[in-house]
Amino acid sequence: MTSSAPESPILSVEHVGVRFGGLVAIADLHFDVRPGEIVSLIGPNGAGKTTAFNVMTGFLRPSQGVVRFRGTALTGLQPHEIVRLGLSRTFQRTSVFPDDTVFDNVMIGLHRRTRSRLVDTLLGRDRAAERRLRAEARDLLDRVGLTARADEKAGALAYGEQRLVGVALALATEPAMLLLDEPVSGMNASETRVFVRLIRAIRARGVTILLVEHDMPMVMEVSDRIAVLNYGRLIAQGAPAEIRSDPAVIEAYLGQGSAAREAAMRAASVPTPVPAPMPVPATPETAVAEASHA
Ligand SMILES: Nc1ncnc2c1ncn2[C@@H]1O[C@H](COP(=O)(O)OP(=O)(O)OP(=O)(O)O)[C@@H](O)[C@H]1O
Ligand SMILES: [Mg+2]
Repeated sequence: MTSSAPESPILSVEHVGVRFGGLVAIADLHFDVRPGEIVSLIGPNGAGKTTAFNVMTGFLRPSQGVVRFRGTALTGLQPHEIVRLGLSRTFQRTSVFPDDTVFDNVMIGLHRRTRSRLVDTLLGRDRAAERRLRAEARDLLDRVGLTARADEKAGALAYGEQRLVGVALALATEPAMLLLDEPVSGMNASETRVFVRLIRAIRARGVTILLVEHDMPMVMEVSDRIAVLNYGRLIAQGAPAEIRSDPAVIEAYLGQGSAAREAAMRAASVPTPVPAPMPVPATPETAVAEASHA
């Protein structure tokens, strides 16, 4: 941190609340993301993370509060209008066109961006534009590491690779900020490492990133800051090192499942004569990681 005034946020979530009938999915959610940051929004299942993304991207109207993106209140805007402002997302469940090739999926995404010329390009009236789009599609596939899969049907790809198609589709809109909803779920450890590099490469090109993810080691490694939701409420925010040792965060994760409770007890216990059930004593970090996989 320098002594100068902090840069104004690219995204501000201001006291957002969402109700589904009697259920309070989010209450008084408030946090900022500054340009160029990688921020993670974490929390146990059902905490309200996807709901928060749905509000930010115009898929849900909040019952209270407002989201601002680059100073513009997003209230009442349609999802495609928000995309046009430079805020794009991927979805928790994959959403590719399974019977189209990977390449054609990306072309569909690019055509969406340039909707006005779609008819011309489809009818072959604008061959130069079509050539440019095809080159851009190849570049996007290269960026997400799917060049070798370009001609395969998207539905035939492994789950993790389908998520990469989703990232390419989001990048096709040339976002200033990208929201990623559980991008590495379904990926193995080496695919996840590659994905971390991809996130950093996207940020290096000036794109701000808000990540929802249950893979705690990955979140701790990649995030500049982390905000933690539990039952729809913000219970902590800060740098990874602060979050890792925050008692409220540990408690929130450890409330889930018996393995997590055991890890909590190990983490909390003072040395006793009883041998520990695991060879490695749990630290708050491993407890959080275990709880997230419980
Ligand atoms: N359309 C909806 N109608 C009613 N309830 C909903 C709706 N969408 C979400 N909920 C509820 O709101 C709460 C928050 O759900 P949300 O999907 O945002 O959680 P999440 O943090 O994304 O969880 P996960 O980690 O499992 O993806 C949950 O209790 C969920 O059941
Ligand atoms: Mg979710």
